[in-house]
Amino acid sequence: MKHAQPRLDRLGAYPFERLARLLDGLEQPAGLKPIDAGAGEPRLPRPAFVDEVLNRSLDGFSRYPPSRGARFLREAAARWLMRRYDLPRVDSDTQVLAANGTREALFAVAHALVNPEAGKLRPTVLMPNPMYQIYLGGAVTAGAEPVLMPCAPDTGFAPDLDAVRDEDWARAAFIYVCSPSNPTGWVADAAWYERLLELADRHDFFIVADECYSEIYRDEPPLGLLEACARLGRHDFSRCLVMNSLSKRSALPGLRSGLIAGDARLIARFAKLRSYTGPATPLPLQHVAAAAWADEAHVQANLATYRESLDAFFAEWGEGAPPAGSFFVWLEVGDGEAFARAAYARQAVTVLPGGYLGAEDARGRNPGQAFVRAALVDGPGAAAELARRLKTVRL
Ligand SMILES: Cc1ncc(COP(=O)(O)O)c(C=O)c1O
Repeated sequence: MKHAQPRLDRLGAYPFERLARLLDGLEQPAGLKPIDAGAGEPRLPRPAFVDEVLNRSLDGFSRYPPSRGARFLREAAARWLMRRYDLPRVDSDTQVLAANGTREALFAVAHALVNPEAGKLRPTVLMPNPMYQIYLGGAVTAGAEPVLMPCAPDTGFAPDLDAVRDEDWARAAFIYVCSPSNPTGWVADAAWYERLLELADRHDFFIVADECYSEIYRDEPPLGLLEACARLGRHDFSRCLVMNSLSKRSALPGLRSGLIAGDARLIARFAKLRSYTGPATPLPLQHVAAAAWADEAHVQANLATYRESLDAFFAEWGEGAPPAGSFFVWLEVGDGEAFARAAYARQAVTVLPGGYLGAEDARGRNPGQAFVRAALVDGPGAAAELARRLKTVRL
């Protein structure tokens, strides 16, 4: 295909397509109720205010939604950021954009930040390995070379900044950070962010922080990148963009609404790209989103359920402890694909092989290979049952 974009050929099939192929032809045992812990899709009830706000906003379906997000939504998002991260000021006009769910924004941001003609050598985009696969898709299609930072048990799954070669820092366009991490549950601390910001200044690159699990945590609310900036006196958030989502925080994955915030220069560039691509959430749904950012009661109720689910899982599983953040358990099982097939065929449980969330490094090793990821999204009873069934599958 002479005229088709060849960069797409460098991407593999998406993890859930691979999972469907892996399980194709296997039968689940009759008599066992299936448990689907494969996808990270919150399944808690929607907050009570959603229906009421939607019903009084229906006229908005007759208007095109602005691609930056309506002012009322950007203001609600800015207020949430200031409250949550104790920030003195976030300007909803210049420092905030709405996203149509963060998935599209995490992909598209690479197309706003990578300059494929920057020099003789291809620019790099750094990312954790394993990772949310959208990072790989964004980097590759934008013409950058992905540089993978291994996240292994010996460093508590922190992306290993020391594993990056100087020449890869030197041509870095930006880095994707995911804290709390999908899939490992790692959470960045102030020292890690400080080191990263120092590297970004030294090597002149940007930081894109995916914080969509920020409201699901074990102990303290995780530090955010904008908060880390403010603590270091970087009140303009220079070099930094964060993304957050109502999909996980408010258990509204079908709302397709998230926020993008940070450095006004980067927001302006990204807004320009988005004025052409036009990923806008319908106006009635933007009203629901604004109401969701303004309410914390439902977030606290959801958090309590996730904590109970994680505790229930580990009480049955018998070793390890809940992750610092996210609703995922990341289990070392030997061979992730073999385990996933056995869990499906013997216990009617769907989990995702960890290798599908990783990529092979320069030495041909995929750090997710020996793991599976299970999402605890169906409440404590299901989480305990999941652990009981998975225990019988351990190879
Ligand atoms: C790490 C991570 N980032 C971003 C997203 C995207 O979520 P959404 O597009 O619903 O905001 C997900 C969803 O699974 C995720 O796991």
